[in-house]
Amino acid sequence: MSHIEKLFSFEGKVIVITGAAGAIGSAAGHLFASLGANVIISDLNEEGAKKVAAEIAKESGKETLGIKTDATDESHLQTLVNETISKFGKISGLINNVGWGESTPLWGSDSDKMVRSYMLNTVSAYNLTRLCMPYLEKEQNASVVFSGSMVGVTPSPEFIEYSTAKAGLMNLVRSMAVVSGPKVRFNTVLIGSVDNGESTLKAGYTKEMLEALSNMFVMKRRGNPIEIAYGMMFLMSDAAEWITGIDLRIDGGGSFKSKMPVEH
Ligand SMILES: NC(=O)c1ccc[n+]([C@@H]2O[C@H](COP(=O)([O-])OP(=O)(O)OC[C@H]3O[C@@H](n4cnc5c(N)ncnc54)[C@H](O)[C@@H]3O)[C@@H](O)[C@H]2O)c1
Repeated sequence: MSHIEKLFSFEGKVIVITGAAGAIGSAAGHLFASLGANVIISDLNEEGAKKVAAEIAKESGKETLGIKTDATDESHLQTLVNETISKFGKISGLINNVGWGESTPLWGSDSDKMVRSYMLNTVSAYNLTRLCMPYLEKEQNASVVFSGSMVGVTPSPEFIEYSTAKAGLMNLVRSMAVVSGPKVRFNTVLIGSVDNGESTLKAGYTKEMLEALSNMFVMKRRGNPIEIAYGMMFLMSDAAEWITGIDLRIDGGGSFKSKMPVEH
């Protein structure tokens, strides 16, 4: 094995991924298993989780676990940890990937919607990480990666619940990072618009809007799920052993607006 192959080998690692029946989580599952890891595919969608786990096992020859987990329910998260430990005996890495946000105008939200989004996008990651910490602390180069969003760092009045929850997640990750070194590393992948099939359409976009959005990006297209998984792979690898508390922006260069507006 070459030096570079060793840095990106996940042989012997056990990695838990949430929201892993979805676009980005399943891409990460396939990638980490192809690099030698045992992956735990957890999702609210039980059928999806089991299907993705079975596909990965077949493709990689690695043992996987597909498990139904409602990330907003602490008892489900405890079961996820228990099942992982009973099957694999350890947790070397965690990808807090679950999240979703519906378009809501700035003044169109309410307490219930705000709290539900916070539970899904922020509190779920806090609870699962807390439950995994005793196991992560025992591992060499243990790492936790979070799926953040560009809407969490830019004004996003059309996604007021989701954007404020994702903003909270970023602060949470930084707090975890500063008190958990050198044992466990914490980093965020700051995601731009990625093609996840129906999911973004259900959040309030139309196909025409997504086409217009693609044209706004420097790279002139939305991302593919695997392009986010590559960033997760880097942050979790031995190549990133001195990296903690960062946000790795993967967003096709974002959009650019001239600072010299055209005169009319
Ligand atoms: N796709 C994008 O454009 C984009 C942009 C920025 C950030 N993100 C973030 O990346 C992550 C993954 O997004 P994706 O595009 O793969 O989305 P996706 O909709 O394809 O997948 C999300 C998965 O989460 C699962 N899920 C929903 N509620 C759950 C719950 N309560 N408990 C457990 N699982 C639940 C869904 O069943 C689904 O399989 C999310 O955190 C999302 O906010 C995505």
